Amino acid sequence: MISHRPRRLRATPAMRRLVREVRPHASELVWGIFVHEDLAEERPIGSLPGVSQHPLAAVPALVDRAIEAGVGGLMIFAIPSVRDAQGSGAVDPDGILNRAIASAAQSAGDRLVVMADLCLDEFTDHGHCGVLDGTGRVDNDATLEIYAEMALAQARAGAHVLGLSGMMDGQVAAVRGALEAEGFTDVALLAYAAKYASAFYGPFREAVDSQLQGDRRTYQLDPANGREGLREAELDELEGADIVMVKPALPYLDVVAEVAAQSRVPVAAYHVSGEYAQIEAAAANGWLDRRAAHLEALTSMRRAGADIIVTYAALELAAWLKEN
Ligand code: PBG
Repeated sequence: MISHRPRRLRATPAMRRLVREVRPHASELVWGIFVHEDLAEERPIGSLPGVSQHPLAAVPALVDRAIEAGVGGLMIFAIPSVRDAQGSGAVDPDGILNRAIASAAQSAGDRLVVMADLCLDEFTDHGHCGVLDGTGRVDNDATLEIYAEMALAQARAGAHVLGLSGMMDGQVAAVRGALEAEGFTDVALLAYAAKYASAFYGPFREAVDSQLQGDRRTYQLDPANGREGLREAELDELEGADIVMVKPALPYLDVVAEVAAQSRVPVAAYHVSGEYAQIEAAAANGWLDRRAAHLEALTSMRRAGADIIVTYAALELAAWLKEN
């Protein structure tokens, strides 16, 4: 006699549907988009099939598509025409990111959560996430002052959530303090708490025309370190983060699961460019089923404990979820 027969609950589609532990929904997806200051037309990103850089004028239409699809939010990245050592374009109210935020926020109203990447790497000519000191090191505390200014510019433009992705120590507290002082008490902070120095950001570098020489290992986490990711998430929560994120997602699902277990705020996972590109490249070769692979990746991030998923596949995922 076999007393335990788990296959019983897998026998029919109806039974499998009944016992499913997670049911991903479009509303928890955040769609990552790229806005390029120099473009008049959409330009496809070679290493991210299906993803493009968009001109500023396209932002209202992108917002409409996101709302139509039923996704929860939009994460905006912007590529400026001109870069300098201080990343001045990031704090300029007429800078491309702040204009894109303003356009998106105006189109979205309260129908979609508008988020913006808060980091200097798209705006610095050296491509680092912060400013450099005399010896070429990324200067943590000088960078915090700029992040505070950048946060105010994004809040003034109407961003609902600021995605702090620079991995400077104390960045959540610095930005929260600046926002409080100016009365932006309702602007939420999504902290890229456990952001690893990952090879999976490869295609993103093309997407933002990155200038980076070298790497980000003095501020992003070593892929070998799980506990350090938990510590970062804990510190960010203590500093006032409203949402904490783990990034990349699938290679770090252990960290996602542990952050979800320890946190008292919502947890996000970022299915990054290289993770997206892996699926696209394999699918283009006929080596895996594109739709099934994207849906499985999403399901796995949810199962590990992420509440919110940042992904370039958000619109398609939303459509597939509706069909299922
Ligand atoms: C920093 C930022 C990066 C990504 C998101 N925000 C680049 C980096 O840290 O090197 C990467 C996202 C991806 O690969 O999809 N502005």
